[in-house]
Amino acid sequence: MENLNSILNGKQTVAIVCNQWGDTGKGKFVDLCAEWADIVARGTGGNNAGHTIILNGKEYIFHLVPSGILRDGEGKINIMGSGMVDDLGVLVGELDELDEQGYGYNGLRISERANVILPYHKELDGKHSSMQKGKIGTTGRGIGQACADKVARFGIMVGDLKDKDNFVRQLKRVQGHHFYLDIDIDKIVEQEMKHYQRIKEFVCDTDALLRSEMKKGKKVLLEGAQGLLLSIDYGTLPYVTSSDPSRIGLAKGVGLLPEDVDLTLGIVKFPFMTRVGNGPFPTEYGGKQSEEYCAEGEGNANKRETEEGKYGRMPSETLINFPDPLTKGIGIRLAAGEYGATTGRPRRTGRTDLVALKHAMSINGPDIILTKADCVAGMDEIELGTGYVDEQGKEVREVSHGSDIAYGLKGLYVRLSGWGDISGCRNYGDLPRSTSNAVEFLEGWTGARVRMVSVGAGREQTIVKQ
Ligand code: IMO
Ligand code: MG
Repeated sequence: MENLNSILNGKQTVAIVCNQWGDTGKGKFVDLCAEWADIVARGTGGNNAGHTIILNGKEYIFHLVPSGILRDGEGKINIMGSGMVDDLGVLVGELDELDEQGYGYNGLRISERANVILPYHKELDGKHSSMQKGKIGTTGRGIGQACADKVARFGIMVGDLKDKDNFVRQLKRVQGHHFYLDIDIDKIVEQEMKHYQRIKEFVCDTDALLRSEMKKGKKVLLEGAQGLLLSIDYGTLPYVTSSDPSRIGLAKGVGLLPEDVDLTLGIVKFPFMTRVGNGPFPTEYGGKQSEEYCAEGEGNANKRETEEGKYGRMPSETLINFPDPLTKGIGIRLAAGEYGATTGRPRRTGRTDLVALKHAMSINGPDIILTKADCVAGMDEIELGTGYVDEQGKEVREVSHGSDIAYGLKGLYVRLSGWGDISGCRNYGDLPRSTSNAVEFLEGWTGARVRMVSVGAGREQTIVKQ
């Protein structure tokens, strides 16, 4: 895309991160910008991520391999960085899937320093999730437990599997640490060594590889996972993931410094946003009722069918204009297909929160991409969150940390006119006045620089704003 080059030209390292609670469209933009890049690298999270790419009408969801993998045939290098936590069984499954679909992965490189997720991490995640009061609603993939072991100095790295005896030694150390667990070393070794054999040709020192390729002038695209509001350092604690998905955590996770990144693009869903799992969400349609409804039956993956059955026959325009906010929220979920790519859970929907966005931008910078605006075609009036009222009735217009975005806050909104179908727009000037007004309101209120507006899942459904 020629227009895209006007943003990327002259840059060597570009990062794509999310400024909300994840699921904003990182997959689409990494795939798109991967055409420009020589290397795509992930640096944080694990298979809690679910990055969706729609190519020629077909949907691909990646949890571990970088979203640039579909461009392997173009000679790109795809790095799974040191800051990640890798479930090797899941990784092998993704490689099988790529084989089946006829995509290569010769350019895949896996950091020997990334930590591995082992069966006891998943077991603990399940136990913690069901025991914890005010539970977080994790993805249940053992992410938090693998990260905790890393910090507690009981993490096992991918490179530890190079030598079976070493792997056994490491597991014995872990057994001493997690003495209350029944860790079957033989079984783990057999299973994980099998996976390791399959991936070993791709395992290397990716930090050194990235730095040496950058010295040669190669262009690098960093693929974020999760979102700023889920950051262990900056997010809505304790309802967060166990890594730092900011541009800082991302750079660190691939062995770079934040100042090595020339441009960070933060993705923002607009004019609605989502959250999957528990935690405060002051601008949620239907508030507490929606949170409870989405978490019913552990946020069961059948909700999509139930909702489609119940509301599917109603025109989307009726649903997204429903006066009752809970129903409106369900309508937006249906219209935008907001069901978790990793767990199938219904994503909670709410108005785009500009206070939270300003906080995210204070870390990730002012350059943003707006996504999903096409999904609310036919909505008469949109709302954007411009503040909160706390339980004492005090107005809050800005926060200094994500944990200030707490339960008990209610959103305050500005109301603007909605828009019709924008999925065919290709230039900023093609957008209806109501859409560009709303975009410019967001820019004025937050100080953001909107660089792109997505009007659909396809690569071509992307507007570059000059
Ligand atoms: P992508 O990369 C949305 C959420 C979980 C839960 C919390 C902690 O697709 O945007 P964890 O399993 O990480 O310990 O769960 O974080 N979460 C995500 N939400 N998108 C993601 O990834 C997420 N990864 C984790 O729902 O609330
Ligand atoms: Mg996702």
